[in-house]
Amino acid sequence: MTEDIPEREARAFDHVHGETFFITQRDGMFYAYQNVCPHLHVELEFLENQFLDQDQEFIQCSTHGALFDVETGQCISGPCLGEALTKVNIKVHSDGGIYLAE
Ligand code: FES
Repeated sequence: MTEDIPEREARAFDHVHGETFFITQRDGMFYAYQNVCPHLHVELEFLENQFLDQDQEFIQCSTHGALFDVETGQCISGPCLGEALTKVNIKVHSDGGIYLAE
């Protein structure tokens, strides 16, 4: 539900295939990405639901500190510069439910 993901926060969810992904809200829009850093293909967070940097401005990988643009998933700083997070397509329904889009 959208109310579970406040502005500039992020939440992890289990994917049907056993992987996890996370959703974050920015300026009223929701963005979802697979929880895999393009650098070493490890999960991004060290602490639960800790996907953003200290200023909650960018998505951050806890392993080597790569920063990713929230809207595009593009790596803008760090060892995977030029690569990007893999987007997960979601749909936000008017009842506040967030669903995976096929
Ligand atoms: S594993 Fe994410 S920046 Fe190195």
